[in-house]
Amino acid sequence: MADQGLMSRKSVDDIIRSSEDHPHKLAKTLGPYSITAMGIGAIIGAGIFVLTGTAAAQYAGPAIMLSFILGGVACAFVGLCYAELAAMLPVSGSTYSYTYATMGEIFAWIIGWDLILEYAMGAATVAVGWSGYIVSILRSIGIVIPAVLTTAPGTVITLPDGGTVHGIVNLPAAFIIAILTASLVAGTKESSRLNNTMVILKLAVVVAFIGVGAFYIHPENWHPFIPPNSGTTGHFGVSGILRGSAVVFFAFIGFDAVSTAAQEARDPQRDMPIGILGSLVISTLLYVAVAAVLTGLVPYGQLNVPDPVAKGVDVIGLAWFSFPIKIGALAGLTTVILVLLYGQSRILFTMAQDGLLPRLFATTHPRLQTPYLSQTLTGVVVAAVAAFTPIDILSEMVSIGTLFAFILVCGAVIMLRRSDGGVRRPFRTPGVPVVPLCGIGFCLLLMSALPGITWLRLIVWLAVGLAIYFLYGYRKSVLRHRPK
Ligand code: ALA
Repeated sequence: MADQGLMSRKSVDDIIRSSEDHPHKLAKTLGPYSITAMGIGAIIGAGIFVLTGTAAAQYAGPAIMLSFILGGVACAFVGLCYAELAAMLPVSGSTYSYTYATMGEIFAWIIGWDLILEYAMGAATVAVGWSGYIVSILRSIGIVIPAVLTTAPGTVITLPDGGTVHGIVNLPAAFIIAILTASLVAGTKESSRLNNTMVILKLAVVVAFIGVGAFYIHPENWHPFIPPNSGTTGHFGVSGILRGSAVVFFAFIGFDAVSTAAQEARDPQRDMPIGILGSLVISTLLYVAVAAVLTGLVPYGQLNVPDPVAKGVDVIGLAWFSFPIKIGALAGLTTVILVLLYGQSRILFTMAQDGLLPRLFATTHPRLQTPYLSQTLTGVVVAAVAAFTPIDILSEMVSIGTLFAFILVCGAVIMLRRSDGGVRRPFRTPGVPVVPLCGIGFCLLLMSALPGITWLRLIVWLAVGLAIYFLYGYRKSVLRHRPK
């Protein structure tokens, strides 16, 4: 039996049993195809459609391809660790639950709080990107939304006549979050169908961009492949490749969201590894190909734009191709928001089951079998953040928070092999402890390339989380207050 202190560990058996015995059950509706589509849904989005251009123009040049390979290799080590844990512990809490089993309650809380950065803040960040794309699509068909209603307060907008106004609210961002939240409350299976359709659309657009763009590449744009360092660390040269990796790491975030679906998978032991590793491999291959085509089409110095893929299409000169690309990007961003909102609600649901959040959020809807209250809470908070906060700094916060969680997942594989070596592992991470240690090393390397201010913000965020734990979870924890 666990001790009653801050470091109380929930045993592996406990974690599985408490999810199975809980009176509020989630419906088991997801199969391997839907789970892989969830991964791709969460992965391919703002990272490739927005950040690639900036990262190539400012940090890595054509070697942004190497930045993507580095990011993919780092995530492959971490993905192998997630695959072991998600198949062994098929519960909705993901990293939060794995940490509860290894390092104990207080660390589990910290990581649950940290995951808000990845899921909720990630969804808000991508919703702002979504808003930018829909405004541009609507404008191209003659519908103009006033700029003050498409940007957060505090943002200064320059109008076509040269005048400036201040944003009031980002309505499109709040709108998409409201719609997707309603879909997720209505049903996991229905939302998964919506996701599957949009994933096909975005994959079609990405593949078409690669296939068509490849014929228009000017290989001279790839020279110099690694532009010489400008004298500042991170601006081109080898350090620029690393800095580029840290920026485009955002593009890989989401493969781990697959693990939050473990409790709703029909056969998690088989489908978790397929979903996590399959979605990661497919996305990495596409990323490297898109980066190659994009930097081959456009000289990297001209890629510092919010819609680099559309810029690539402009260079090809096929005007009709631009509209489908924007629709595909919009579909891509939609699925990312959908899966991140989904994952966030499942983590809150699990934390509420453990008493670290109000028990209300651990209830499921009697008919829909979705965690409607945690899903609605997620939707309201994310919509408010996206509508009212200027969040251009957030993507780096999202990345550092995610890397921190990844380190704990790699650590959990090593620790659980020691403490619970006898538990059945349908998927075993190869080469333990080397592979998890490589995962930790790569994550630390990417974190080291993020600016100091991002680290400071992470520390402040975690300190706020700790204060909340001592005010609430410490007193209400189910594990710490159950009879010995
Ligand atoms: N990987 C996701 C994206 O790029 C978060 O939008």
